[in-house]
Parts: sequence; C-alpha cells; structure tokens
Amino acid sequence: MLVLGIESSCDETAAAVVKDGREILSSVISSQIEIHREWGGVVPEIASREHLVKIDPVVDKALADAGVGLESIDAIAVTYGPGLVGSLLVGVSYAKALAFGLGKPVIGVNHIEGHFYSVEFDNGPITYPAMALIVSGGHTNLFFAPEAGKYKVVSRTRDDAAGEAFDKAAKMLGLGYPGGPLIEKYAKEGNPKAIEFPIARISDGRPDYSFSGLKTAVLRYIQENNIEPIRPGEEPNSEIKNVCASFQYTVVKTLTRVLEKQAKEFYPKTLIVAGGVACNQALREKAEKIGGRLGLPVFFPSKHLSTDNAAMIAAAGTFHLARGEASGLDLTADVTIRLQNHEVEDADLRKRRVRYKL
Ligand code: KG4
Ligand code: ZN
Repeated sequence: MLVLGIESSCDETAAAVVKDGREILSSVISSQIEIHREWGGVVPEIASREHLVKIDPVVDKALADAGVGLESIDAIAVTYGPGLVGSLLVGVSYAKALAFGLGKPVIGVNHIEGHFYSVEFDNGPITYPAMALIVSGGHTNLFFAPEAGKYKVVSRTRDDAAGEAFDKAAKMLGLGYPGGPLIEKYAKEGNPKAIEFPIARISDGRPDYSFSGLKTAVLRYIQENNIEPIRPGEEPNSEIKNVCASFQYTVVKTLTRVLEKQAKEFYPKTLIVAGGVACNQALREKAEKIGGRLGLPVFFPSKHLSTDNAAMIAAAGTFHLARGEASGLDLTADVTIRLQNHEVEDADLRKRRVRYKL
C-alpha cells in the first residue's frame, strides 16, 4: 500500500511517499523559514502564496525520490486541520484534484494525529494504551489513547503553545526565529537554576498547561535587569544564556510534571513525546527519566520527523484507510478540528488498574 502524504498546515510544504504506513520511500520538505524570518514569525498570507508555488514541485520530487509514478499511488493523505486556513486549503485542494484525476481515495488527516503516528517509523507499532505529549509551535496537548484511533485530551494549554513560548522568548532576547533550537543551543551554556521562573497553576484544578505567565515573567526579568536583545551575528552574553537555560528548564518541568502525574492516573503502556518541541534534548532526557521511573518505554520520533513533515500524515492516513475511513471530495480545511473522540470513565481506569496490577 503506497500512500502519498501532503502537508501544508503552516510554513512547510511537504510531500512523502510511505509504504504500508511504516516505510518512508521519500520525504520532501520545503521550508519557508527564510521567508518568514524577516517578520519574526509566520505571515499567513505569505505562507499560502508560497505553498501554491511549491506544492507541485514538492510532490514531483517526492514521487521521483521514491522512484514511483502517480499511477502506483494507492491513496492520498492530506492534512485538513488544524492550521492556517489559507495554507491548509492549498494542500486540501491539490490533494482532492489529484485524487479525483487519478480515481484514488483521499483521506483528510488531523495534523496532531500525524504527529502521534510520527513515532512509529523509528519505534515500531505503538503499544496501547498510550499517553502522548504532542508539543509544537501551535499545540500543546497531553492525550490518552486507550486504543488506536481513540483519543482523550487529558491536558491542553490554556493560552500559548510550548513552541510558541520558545519562539516568543527567543524574539524578546533577539535570538531569531524559530526560537526553540536557538534557546536550546544557548541554554546548554547557561545555568538552569539561575532564575526562578514561575510554573503556572490552574486554579480550577484541571491538569492544564499555561505559558503566558512565563512569557510575562521573562519579559519582566529582561526589563528589570536591563538586558538588551542581541543584534544579528552577535554572541549572547552569560546573562542571556542563563535566561535561556532557566526558561527551558521551566518549560520542560511544566510539561513533564503533568505527564508523570497523569501517567500514574491512566496506566498507559507507552509514553509518546512528539511535535517540534520534541527535538529538545532536555525534554527528551526528562521524559526518558520519567519512563524509567514508571517502567514504561518512551517513543520519540527521530528529530527530522519531529517537526512538520508529510511522512507522518501518510502514516496516519494509512491507518484510517485500512479502517475504510477515506474522505469524500467534499473534504475541506477545518481549523477547528480537535483530536478528542473518547471519554474515559473512572470505572475504566479502575478496571485497568486491576488488569495491570498497578
Ligand atoms: O511541529 P512543528 O514543526 O510545527 C507545528 O506544528 O507548530 O513545531 C515547530 C515548533 C516551533 O515553535 C519551534 O520553536 C519548536 O517547534 N522547536 C523547538 C526545538 N526545535 C523546534 N522547541 C524547543 N527546542 C527545540 N530544539
Ligand atoms: Zn506540527
């Protein structure tokens, strides 16, 4: 089964050919980072215009790299949400036209579910129940998946996504865009305990995340200590490196504290950490430690599959195709879709506790 995946939800135009949901025959990613860098973040209108220019050559290259013609493709999987509506529409319209022309099925894939499936390439099939922390520039969610295709959101961010917080902190320090990799780079040379940034507590008792207070705390710290953002090409001083290290330490602690607490409540058999922020080594190490403490394997995508790509969309699409869940040609971009289709009752949890003798 050969699936052509197409991803255009944000600022990457990507296409991939994936065999049987596991074997990547090709994966092409055309990043718009250089175009958006000038603006310090993604400009939606520019992004959709750029997708229009890139989608055809990117799909052609994915087919050529895989050494297959369009006639050998069994289905087309495309991200239909969440994301930027103009960007999504380019991918969805292209995929539908291709599917119609070829007489092959098209499958609309939730981008977040794509990140979920990204771990299967390097780790093999997920053992369920699984608990997945999906952290990217647009999303921060902790899911419990009792079985394949069923998801309950255990925690979500109330405001900024974790990746967005990295990007905003980096911007305040003049580090550049995207901020995550730059903060991580300078954090390695700073002291994570130098500054005590706050970890948000949600007053209604839900285990949700919040990063806007941290963002304000970083801004206040920068102002109160007269820290000047660096200029392009300038090396940050030790004060900036300490802000990076302390900020990263706080984000990782915020994310993993909830992960560990909820894993103890839901009794998963696998922990998953995916999405762009899963590139972060400090987050990986902390998640590994938690896995060790709980006796659970932790699945990460390899780093090039952590950020947006089309192979993960093809993998999630293959799963749905196998269940006969292809979309119709009325598929359209939907920025509001959520990956939540399952509720877990207390009784279910108690049953699992007995079954796993936990
Ligand atoms: O998954 P992704 O490519 O796009 C979205 O779906 O949003 O994630 C991009 C995000 C950006 O916010 C970027 O700063 C963050 O992932 N990121 C990182 C690292 N690499 C990328 N955050 C922290 N540490 C990193 N090494
Ligand atoms: Zn993403």
